[in-house]
Amino acid sequence: MAYVTFSKATDPNPTETPFPDEDRITAEIVAHMAANQRAAAERHRHAHRDAHAKSHAVLKGHLSVLPGLAPAFAQGIFGTQRDYDILARISAAPGDIHSDDVAAPQGFALKILGVDGDRLLPDIGGANQDILMVNIPVLAFGDVGKYQKMLGPLEAKARAPDSLQRAGSAAARAAAGVIDALGGTPNATLQGLALARVHALGETFHSQGAVRYGDYIAKFSLAPEGPTATLTGQPIGDGYSAMRDAVGEWCRAQPTTYLLHAQLCTDAAAMPVEDAAVLWDPAASPHVPIARLHFPPQDPYTPGRQVAGDDMLSFNPWNGITAHQPLGSIMRVRKHAYDSSSRQRHTLNARPRHEPQSLADIAD
Ligand code: HEM
Repeated sequence: MAYVTFSKATDPNPTETPFPDEDRITAEIVAHMAANQRAAAERHRHAHRDAHAKSHAVLKGHLSVLPGLAPAFAQGIFGTQRDYDILARISAAPGDIHSDDVAAPQGFALKILGVDGDRLLPDIGGANQDILMVNIPVLAFGDVGKYQKMLGPLEAKARAPDSLQRAGSAAARAAAGVIDALGGTPNATLQGLALARVHALGETFHSQGAVRYGDYIAKFSLAPEGPTATLTGQPIGDGYSAMRDAVGEWCRAQPTTYLLHAQLCTDAAAMPVEDAAVLWDPAASPHVPIARLHFPPQDPYTPGRQVAGDDMLSFNPWNGITAHQPLGSIMRVRKHAYDSSSRQRHTLNARPRHEPQSLADIAD
């Protein structure tokens, strides 16, 4: 298979193209999100993340890079067969906290501790690699221009009371219609709004955006493995915290396991980095397993874990090494959005920002 290479001769990267007026749009998106986050903090008297505000679990485990990876997949931190300690925060996507009776995309934020390599944002401190994924393969608004148009409607949806949110698929489809009219990619939008209420741990998660993968370009995905895969498609019960309860019940009783995959870009036109709404066809380039994640049995949502996950930790796709630099305008805006959201959250809650050095930094 012929992979598109991230040519060192033409660094930084020939596949990236700035979006017209990108700096202005980026600044406007970040300012808009920050104002929204301040308004939510005013209502709650506590600051949450400006996206993925509601956590279900904070897990401690380890990641093993798989032995014998083909050279194109043995890149960056996956270039050496070794184990790392990891943290994961599992969340619902909206920027406000709602009942789990309302279907929502789910997030899996992974932090790999103590990786080697030149840092993208040295000021964050620490030596960790974050990989952020959601359970939809594409982002409905794949560039900063479309993303900006969608922000208002999506935030209004996030703020709407649970009673309206529960109105179900009719409301979801109406919202999808509005969003499609604003230029979202129809299938991606519908997938994002019409999700079923199924067990988060059984889902397959995707980075949606592209990253540098050593000498190549990739998207990441994470699929449940072994008994964890029996959770795929399993409905959860009713109740405000039904997802947290289902996840906790599973994690306390047995290990939770996943395979992390890389899908390499084989065609810069058909698999663009500048439009995260375009699905990279798995028939053109398969998702290849690169590492195994193992979370031993544990209670993933003690009060200490919740506070660590919600108030102390930050995950950021730019918290990592240059060999895995995020690519494309939607990834470039995230460099500013995550920093702003994390700083404001910590400032409003009067908490120091702290990048963990070891699993012992996180309460059991
Ligand atoms: C490209 C696809 C994207 C994926 C897969 C993704 C995934 C995630 C996940 C999993 C989290 C939760 C992190 C945690 O548990 O701490 C998160 C948080 C967040 N996301 Fe995204 N996201 C995407 C795009 C975006 C975009 C385009 C923006 C804004 C321009 C954005 C803004 C945020 C913010 C502000 C947070 C909260 C950060 C914090 O306060 O620590 N995301 N995202």
